[in-house]
Amino acid sequence: MDKLILAGGAPLAGEVAISGAKNAALPILCASLLTAEPLQLTNLPHLNDISTMLRLLAQMGVEVTLDGPSGLVLDAKGLNNPLAPYDLVKTMRASILVLGPLVARCGEARVSLPGGCAIGARPVDQHIKGLQAMGAEVTVEAGYVHAKAKRLKGARICTDMVTVTGTENLMMAAVLADGETIIDNAARAPEVVDLANCLVSMGAQISGAGTDVIRIRGVERLSGAQHRIMPDRIETGTYLCAAAATGGEVRLTQTSAAYLDAVVDKLMDAGCDVVTERDAIRLKAPQRLKAVSLRTAPYPAFPTDMQAQFMAINAVADGVATIRETIFENRFMHANELMRLGADIQIEGSNAIVRGVARLEGATVMATDLRASASLVIAGLVAQGETTIDRIYHLDRGYERIEEKLAKLGARVRRAH
Ligand code: EPU
Repeated sequence: MDKLILAGGAPLAGEVAISGAKNAALPILCASLLTAEPLQLTNLPHLNDISTMLRLLAQMGVEVTLDGPSGLVLDAKGLNNPLAPYDLVKTMRASILVLGPLVARCGEARVSLPGGCAIGARPVDQHIKGLQAMGAEVTVEAGYVHAKAKRLKGARICTDMVTVTGTENLMMAAVLADGETIIDNAARAPEVVDLANCLVSMGAQISGAGTDVIRIRGVERLSGAQHRIMPDRIETGTYLCAAAATGGEVRLTQTSAAYLDAVVDKLMDAGCDVVTERDAIRLKAPQRLKAVSLRTAPYPAFPTDMQAQFMAINAVADGVATIRETIFENRFMHANELMRLGADIQIEGSNAIVRGVARLEGATVMATDLRASASLVIAGLVAQGETTIDRIYHLDRGYERIEEKLAKLGARVRRAH
């Protein structure tokens, strides 16, 4: 299993380009299932989760053709096997995103239940409830969700909580349904808007994406389209945190601060100078960061996907911060690993109290999930001496060429097999 070895202490400096957003690309790849015409995508990140999704689509009969360094053409003309088997789903929860489009286009789908994962139980009851409201017959047998509907019917759906992939799945189901669907309490995340924009280019009739009420008027068929995936706001935020923690100065290109208000505000509260340009962000860190408390909540509030990275920066900041996680019930696994590096963190239920220390010391730590891994990278860049991060396959699911990008910013980092 690959490891990442970091020699800490060097401030990050320079410029690096941000990749396309994993969490926008995954649903948009699934949107290809909705049409028999080619969908041409650009700015796709090279990530293991993307390869897994492509394998899943290919075994359903979708033809995938490479198109330039970060482009693909997906052609679901020959879609003939509306099945997502356990072997692929177990490695990536986002596989559930095929459910809505498959029922909409094929009239049926069999998708393995994704089950629990390290950060929490993460059920898919809202996805199922929404499809049932649209007239699908849904059964769960032998670990598979089996959904059937000759043609889905428009419905009013109010989800019990704000769910990102739930909103995306139901939006994709509704675009080919008979009549109007209203998704109330919809996720407002920018990735939902990127998916809606792609679907609209394919001929879907959607309004309200980006608000908590999305209206979709079903159409008979969708066509092919071209779409550029939005920049990854979480990768952007992660590099901003890495620069902040190391006392660095960086410019991140091919990205935008437009979807990062909550994160940028916290970085400025911590004492960083942040300047936003049209397609870039610059950050200059102070000598020492100030501790910043935060509470995660659905977009536009502070993202749960940035919580671990802020725990790392608070670990070395001046003062005491309280971090409250409200989205996932088990998303503090990085705390123990950060403590191995010398951080002072106390967990009390869904609160973490982080007392900043003057310095961290390198050690061997273990990555437990994607964003936890990112927090360990940040801590390793700050710690004195060498930090070895084990099980970095988690990182490769969500950060494109991370050691190359960090090295470009002056980090002393290498991968070992
Ligand atoms: N939930 C339910 N029932 C459902 C759906 C969700 O109880 O049917 C609960 C979840 O258990 C959780 C909360 O609702 O407590 C919100 O979960 P959500 O459905 O929004 O999460 P998700 O769609 O599974 C996406 C991202 C995650 C990100 C969350 C929250 C993708 C592919 N994944 O997950 O990204 O943390 O939204 O913003 O878009 C990551 O990239 O590292 C990552 C985990």
